[in-house]
This record gives sequence, structure tokens and C-alpha cells, in this order.
Amino acid sequence: MSTHNVWTHKGTFLLAAVGSAVGLGNLWRFPYLTGENGGGAFILVYALTIFAVGIPILIAETMLGRNSRRSPIMGMRFLTRTHNTSRAWESIGWLGAASAFLILSFYSVIAGWAIHYTWQMLTGSLVGADAETISAGFDALLASPALLTLYHTLFIIASGLIVGMGIHKGIESGLRIIMPALFIILLVVLAYGVTNGDFRAAASFLFTFNIADLSLEGWLAAMGQSFFTLSLGMGAIMAYGAYMSSEISLTRTALAIAVVDTAVAMVAGLAIFSLVFGAGLDAGQGPGLMFVTLPLAFAEMPFGALVGGVFFILVLGAAISSSISLIEPVAAFLVERFDLTRPQAVFAMVLASWALGLLTVASFNVYAEGTIFHTLFGRSAFEFIELLTNIFMPLGGLLIALFAGWALTHSEVMKEMRTNETWFAIWRLLVRFVAPAAVAFVFLRAIPQVEGYLIPAIGALVIVGAFAAGRTFLVDDSQG
Ligand code: PHE
Repeated sequence: MSTHNVWTHKGTFLLAAVGSAVGLGNLWRFPYLTGENGGGAFILVYALTIFAVGIPILIAETMLGRNSRRSPIMGMRFLTRTHNTSRAWESIGWLGAASAFLILSFYSVIAGWAIHYTWQMLTGSLVGADAETISAGFDALLASPALLTLYHTLFIIASGLIVGMGIHKGIESGLRIIMPALFIILLVVLAYGVTNGDFRAAASFLFTFNIADLSLEGWLAAMGQSFFTLSLGMGAIMAYGAYMSSEISLTRTALAIAVVDTAVAMVAGLAIFSLVFGAGLDAGQGPGLMFVTLPLAFAEMPFGALVGGVFFILVLGAAISSSISLIEPVAAFLVERFDLTRPQAVFAMVLASWALGLLTVASFNVYAEGTIFHTLFGRSAFEFIELLTNIFMPLGGLLIALFAGWALTHSEVMKEMRTNETWFAIWRLLVRFVAPAAVAFVFLRAIPQVEGYLIPAIGALVIVGAFAAGRTFLVDDSQG
């Protein structure tokens, strides 16, 4: 029905989706957010949202990709035609492409920090260093536009090359090496943490669920993290779904992705906090957790340079398999829409994202404060780009849930999910009502003025509005 490629092996979608999901979100963002939000309670809410919101939307997004067999934008155009719905639903594709472009621009810069620390570790330059030396080193890295640009450039070129080589030679064979290596190295780091750090403290920090400790913001942060970590709402999963063989059950696959992604985050959390507590460091220190605290822990440990080097290679592997999933949907669109060759499309996407990434680079030094961005938006360019993606991703997820929940027919969904009526009914309840409601909260989190009890109230309004809009857009004559 279309000229689109299909993965050569049945298991490749799972491999690719896990590669996309597992990244800086699991290894850097999850531990630091958990540390900031007090541990167990955050994890409980995060896990609940993964399973009640994340998995249904993961199924929905894959479904839209596999049903259309096109890149997100062209796919949504196709689906609005075949389902007699408003062209406005195409915005799912556009939002996704915009998010991918924006996320890649800063993701690449942050991943670049891991290149720096891989180098620092392997050359042994931090062995025996104290806390001041290490945070001064981190500050010095952030203060150097040249160094940040160099790493950013290296990372984005590596990502572009993998995607440019095509899904079979590039993504597929790349992931076959990256993912298993990733799991093994992560387990090695965990084993090291267990024997040399304070595993007990880490486990009790992560798994003591005291839900009363969690602030409203903590709840919202946990939900936001569940979106980011599963790569939802921006077309990555839809693009990969378009290459997925039709025989495989979406339900099982989505479950497997969520379980693996959560397991990696937990193992990473246990490993990182074992090291953190073992070295008597502060768990709640924020985004610097991985890039300041870990090198310090590694500096103090026997064989720390080696363990640290291996760990940052793991981070890079995870980051690159995520960044290739950011390039894929946009590149696939450029190929389909403008008849570019695959390398041309990748080059265009990567070049534009690279250029935008320079704003993130500058946000940590020359444009750190007092420039046009601060005046206009009250934040750095990097923070502004992050804010945009924080709005676009949940919004995309909300629209995906609504479209899949209301526009797709029973038989279409059953064909994709390959499950029984009970699971179908549960899924549809979740995508029609539960997921949109939860996503509305995440979306509203981005509005700083909306605090406390206003959030549920306005959330309810948004949901009602979304349903009204959904009903209006959907001329549901395809229902059989
Ligand atoms: N899920 C990735 C991570 O955890 C980040 C990502 C978000 C990748 C969105 C693709 C799309 O690092």
C-alpha cells in the first residue's frame, strides 16, 4: 500500500523503540528529578503515570504510525483523509516535527557533556580530584562556547551519520550493538555500586513510598518525566511504528518498552544513588547530579577512571539511540514531501538543529544573562526551548490520545492491538478520558501562574474543551 520500508526483523521495532526511550531521560533526568523530589513518592507517581497514561498513548502513537505507514506529518494527513476528519489533526505531525527539532538542538549539547566526561575519565584527569576541583571543571566546561560547540557538533554528526545510512544499515545494525552493550555496562556499574557504594541507602531512598511528601509540583514533574522518558508525543514512536511489521501485537510491545525503560531508569537510579550515598553526597542537588556528583564519586573510587569512562560511554550510547529517533521523523517527512534523498534530508534537519543548538551553547556562557532572551521571555534561550518542548510534547500526546481514541474504528484498533475486548475497553477508556485529563495537567504545569487548586479547575476546562473540539473535528462516519 505504500513504498515505506518495513524493519527487516520483527523484533527491530522493539529494539528501536527501546533505543529511543532509553536515554538522558533515564540516566540523567530521572535520577536528578527523583533526588530533587525526595525519592520513593516521586517514583510511585512516575510509575503509575507510565502505566496508566504512558502505555495507552504509546499504543496509540504506534498505532497511528503503523496504520498510516508514513512519516508523522504525511501519516496524519493520510489518516485525516481516510477517516473523514478535520485536516487540523495534521497538527499532531507538525507539533511532533517541531518538538523533535527543538529537543535535538539541546539534547545534542547536553549529550556533548558526556563526551567531555568520557574523555576526562579515560584520560584519568579527575583521579583523586576533590569536590571543588570537579565543580570548577564543570563550570569551566559550561563557560567555554568553543568546547561546548565542539562536543555538540561531534554528537550531532555521529547521530546524523547513523540515520543518513538508512534504517537498515544505520539504525537497525547500530542498535543491535548499542542496546545490549548498554544493558551490560549499566549492570556492571550497578554491580560496582552495590559492592563499593551504599546500596541500602539507595534502595531505601528510592523505594520508601511516602506519598504525603510529594508536592503538587512533584506529581506534575513525575508525569512530565513519564512522557519524556517514553519519547511520547513527538512523532519518534509514530515514525518507528510506520516501519513495524503488521503481525506484531502492539499491546505486548508497548508493555515491553515501558517495562524495559522503567527497569533501566531504576537500575540507573540504584547505581547512581548507591554511588552518591556511598560518597556522602547530596541526592537533591539538581541537574548537576550526574555531571558533577558522579565524576566525584568516580574520582574517589579505586578504578574510578575506568568505571567512570565506561559509564559515560553508556550514557553516550543511550543518548545517540535517542537522538537518532529525533532525526528520523523529520528526515522521513522531508524525503516524502520534498523528494530529497535520505542523506540530504538528514543533513538539512541536522544542520538546522545544530544551528539552533548554538543558542543552547550560548545560554550557558555568553548569553547566560541580561540579553534579549531574558528581557523578552524571562529565561535563557535554552530554558525557553525546553519550555516549548514541555508544551509541545504533552499537547501532541493529548491529541494523539484523542485521535486514536475517537477517530479509529473498533476493528482498526483490534487489528493493531491483537487483544481481547476487555483490554480494548480499558485502553479506550484510558485514551479517551484518563490520558487526556492527565496530559492536561502536565501541559498546565508549563504555565507558572497556574498554581494550587487552579490547576485541577482549569485542567477540567481544558479537557471539556478538547472533547468539544474533538467531537466537532471528527465526522465519525467511518464507524462500522
Ligand atoms: N526518551 C528519551 C530519553 O529518555 C528522550 C527522547 C524524547 C527521545 C523524545 C526521543 C523523543 O532520553
